[in-house]
Amino acid sequence: MVGRCAEPCPASLDHASVHGRSTMHIERPSELDLAKFLLAHQGFRRQAARLRDLLASPEELTGERLAALTRHWTKYLCVLEHHHTTEDEKIWPLLRAAAPEAAAALDELEAEHAELDRLIDASAAALVRLADDPYHRPAAAALFGEFADLVDRHLDHEEKHAVPLLLTALTRDEWLAIETANAASLRAHDLVPFVLPWSLEDAPPAVVDAFLSSSPPELRTVYEKVWLPAYQRQARLLWQGMFDTAARA
Ligand SMILES: [Fe+2]
Ligand SMILES: [Fe+2]
Repeated sequence: MVGRCAEPCPASLDHASVHGRSTMHIERPSELDLAKFLLAHQGFRRQAARLRDLLASPEELTGERLAALTRHWTKYLCVLEHHHTTEDEKIWPLLRAAAPEAAAALDELEAEHAELDRLIDASAAALVRLADDPYHRPAAAALFGEFADLVDRHLDHEEKHAVPLLLTALTRDEWLAIETANAASLRAHDLVPFVLPWSLEDAPPAVVDAFLSSSPPELRTVYEKVWLPAYQRQARLLWQGMFDTAARA
């Protein structure tokens, strides 16, 4: 994701202001700005729930709409796998070094990543099969339901055990280095045109404005003129009015 709050902002600390739902509230000020990290969690939850509800609904899923679903799911998985890789390879090792007593909780989070990988593979295979066999819909819906439940459970777990540790164990420079590398990797994988409107979709206007205001002007322009309209076109084709998908300019 690109863009950041200009300074450690309330959005990075008041979880409820970033999340529509919240499992934690951090009272203590911190120098870390976790807004992008938490917005990604919000996006993972929101999209997993929508995919679950779409598959479980009587909505027709053929042709262009099924193709849009597959494109959206593929991008979603790229972002999720990117997020997990950053956690497993960069963030958790720092936490393990700073807080050895957290090893068991971090082991559990890594195991949940592996469990999600299994469901990701099964769900992807289910979508491929659905293209040829509409009678596979109930089985696909069950898999996406299982996936959404695990995403919720894992992120709740992570926000309860890892986020408080992040705020106490990592320095601002360590976190900035992780975010800088993460942004470079997202650009290298051409994920920014998707991940920016995706992660800001349900963010409060003040949070969206803070992200865009702290970004280079040319990024704001391409976001508003190209990436957001493309994301909204895709959302209209995919969800067809099932959800409020007002990605904001
Ligand atoms: Fe996470
Ligand atoms: Fe995670």
